[in-house]
Amino acid sequence: MSPLPTKVDEIKTRFEALFGRLPTTVIRAPGRVNLIGEHTDYNEGFVLPVAIDRAILIAAAPRHDREVRLYALNFDERTAFSLDRIERDEQRAWSNYQRGVAHVLQEQGLPLVGMDACIWGDVPIGSGLSSSAAVEVATAYAFQTLSGFELDRVEMALLCQRAENEFVGVQCGIMDQFIACLGRRDHALLLDCRSLDYEHVPLPPPAPPKPALRPPPRRKAEGLGGTGGAAIVVCDTMVRRGLVDSEYNARRRECAEGARLLGVKALRDVSVEAFERQQMGLPEVVRRRCRHVIRENQRVLDSVEALRQGDLAEFGRLMNESHRSLRDDYQVSCRELDVMVEVAQRVEGVYGSRMTGAGFGGCTVSLVEAEAVGRFRDQVARDYAAATGIEPGIYVCRAEDGVGI
Ligand code: GLA
Repeated sequence: MSPLPTKVDEIKTRFEALFGRLPTTVIRAPGRVNLIGEHTDYNEGFVLPVAIDRAILIAAAPRHDREVRLYALNFDERTAFSLDRIERDEQRAWSNYQRGVAHVLQEQGLPLVGMDACIWGDVPIGSGLSSSAAVEVATAYAFQTLSGFELDRVEMALLCQRAENEFVGVQCGIMDQFIACLGRRDHALLLDCRSLDYEHVPLPPPAPPKPALRPPPRRKAEGLGGTGGAAIVVCDTMVRRGLVDSEYNARRRECAEGARLLGVKALRDVSVEAFERQQMGLPEVVRRRCRHVIRENQRVLDSVEALRQGDLAEFGRLMNESHRSLRDDYQVSCRELDVMVEVAQRVEGVYGSRMTGAGFGGCTVSLVEAEAVGRFRDQVARDYAAATGIEPGIYVCRAEDGVGI
């Protein structure tokens, strides 16, 4: 059961206790899990993320001076800054997301009002489910709501990405902010990270349909995957590695080098066939990085086709292949992620499983037959703990809408 409804009441009560008045709005921005298309966004390729039912909430009310006062419930910490002088805060580093967004919005010439804000979230931090993009997008939406302007959602995503790139100093791609702005309930989002064209792709129902009063005559399972529903299950290895930023930037450089050597603007421009012909001239490490990205782009397109056909077995096979490629060619997995994926893939009723997000710890995503979810939880928790000595976090996720009130 999602803790969100009770949290909305709690966050309002906390806001009132702190600021002596009620919030005028409560904003919710979701975390995300990427089904497939990893490390392709900054290569101008394709991704297929889902906004999830774990989110950041911001309760806020306007102020008529230029002050922004923030209270983070998760850390029990507060900080404040003036819209006339926005600087980074190394002590309260969590507030650099809000500061960065305010800075970028003002740079765009948008007239911001000050605010009191209380922030809470149940997106596990540092787990690869994009709590930071959710904070940025929730902040942008809160400023928009209180200040009375309206940004196009694609533009909002781009501005939040810019805040993260330029103010927070992390060189992320566009995927996380985009899905936090444009997610849709029970749909995945196919995004072309070059043109920013996107399409919502319906997901199989998260639970088996309720039986009709008089059950229909028994039929054999329909096609691959059938119509019994499938769940998106996120497993948190509980491992966080400090390496993520430096390795992420190294991968970006290697991909840029690959594109240069292949004579294209971005790896997006190389087809699987063209790569097969040209790859021999590349240095070994660059060749592997390129191979991952180029094949992963194709896998995203193939997996969308599989979803449209209701072929979840094929979708799962592509997820498994994506994991192997991230482990062996892109080299961004780690032992715990590999163990989690292996124990998940062994469970009967699992279509596919892979690491998700930047890598080096964090989460995996699995597509699981709805009826098999209970078994999946038990078996994965038991086998992962037996192999690593760590209790995993396991969340069954529902695809949710992007940011809103
Ligand atoms: C992080 C980044 C995204 C994307 C993924 C890897 O989540 O923020 O932009 O590059 O890693 O797919």
